[in-house]
Amino acid sequence: MPPAAYQIKTPTLPEDKLDAEILQKLSQSTYQETATAFGVSRGKVYQLALKNGARKTEQRIMERAAERKQRQAETLKALLDATATADVLDYFEALPDNCAQLVLTSCPYNVAKKYGEGASADTMRHVYFAGWLSMIVSEISRVLAPGGVAFFQCGSTRDEVDGSMVPIDIMMFDVFRKAGLDYQNRVSWVIPHGLTPKRRLSERHESALIFSKGTPSTFHPDPARTPQKNPGKRAYKGPNKGRLSGHPFGAWPSDVWVIGNVGANHPEKTGHPAQFPEELAMRAVQIYTQPGDLVIDPFSGSGTTHVVARRTGRQFSGCDLFYEDMRAARLADAGLDNVCPLPGVSEQSRAIWQAEAIVRGATPREIRQQTLFD
Ligand SMILES: C[S@@+](CC[C@H](N)C(=O)[O-])C[C@H]1O[C@@H](n2cnc3c(N)ncnc32)[C@H](O)[C@@H]1O
Repeated sequence: MPPAAYQIKTPTLPEDKLDAEILQKLSQSTYQETATAFGVSRGKVYQLALKNGARKTEQRIMERAAERKQRQAETLKALLDATATADVLDYFEALPDNCAQLVLTSCPYNVAKKYGEGASADTMRHVYFAGWLSMIVSEISRVLAPGGVAFFQCGSTRDEVDGSMVPIDIMMFDVFRKAGLDYQNRVSWVIPHGLTPKRRLSERHESALIFSKGTPSTFHPDPARTPQKNPGKRAYKGPNKGRLSGHPFGAWPSDVWVIGNVGANHPEKTGHPAQFPEELAMRAVQIYTQPGDLVIDPFSGSGTTHVVARRTGRQFSGCDLFYEDMRAARLADAGLDNVCPLPGVSEQSRAIWQAEAIVRGATPREIRQQTLFD
């Protein structure tokens, strides 16, 4: 016997009267609402509509889609430079397609971490967790603007069926591709310190999957360059023979990022149990966005992504089930940075390039404009 909710009630009205009432209801309701109201199947309502020329028109379907778009645009306006206390899928549903330049986030790992007051926010069955993350990736793909980028930071989860650890980047790689996004990179975030397990190697890195919706519309390498190992190296052949061969702003950024995590005594530490460092978010924001672009973090946590967006003049939006006051307090202290750092420029490289410019007789203006460095 199926549960009561699935049983189809026997209609009590004569057939033609019932049909007329169903059609009347259908003119103001959906197929499902009509079927439920009369205890008949959705297929029956559809067949009746078809037979009587009362099928919901394409126009009505389009009107509904337009209303939905309008609602989503209004919601986004309300959520600009703000974060919602909401479930991630509800939040995404309220956002329009193609609105964000960057979705920068770190998901829960489903390892029973205690977030907020909700003991269940990180304790799903593994198979459900995989499906839930897949829905989120699909939504990320939908809200990204063409040329936009997803930066998805993650570690390992645990499959409770056999107790094994599962790297989330491996688990989700194909899901990102199937969601229509293009693989760009997998960053290894090298964490110098951490826990030491008994019979396994200690984990000293996590990953960030970087996928884009088509070719990334922005890629700024300079704010993520690293100091050259040998800034005085010179070309030994070719037209530039004898000239400095490295880039004055440092080496091209790689996919290995060595950044300390936010431990107990870290200056950025809040009461959040799984905060990522501002420097990690900063690199992603500076490489993949322009000032004014929208950066979304659907697992906002303590608000790290939003603080970085504000410091760099980007718009932001996000949500989390908890930590609203924590984010508000952090954002209240965050203002626009008035310097744009070039971390690949070291004292040593600056001295070498300035000496080179003087030797080559550059004017102070040329030195400032870096024309010698092209
Ligand atoms: C890894 S933390 C993100 C931390 C953040 N990057 C930071 O620097 O503070 C994951 C966050 O996801 C939130 N979360 C878990 N389940 C959620 C859900 N269903 N909807 C929205 N947020 C959720 C948790 O509360 C937690 O703050």
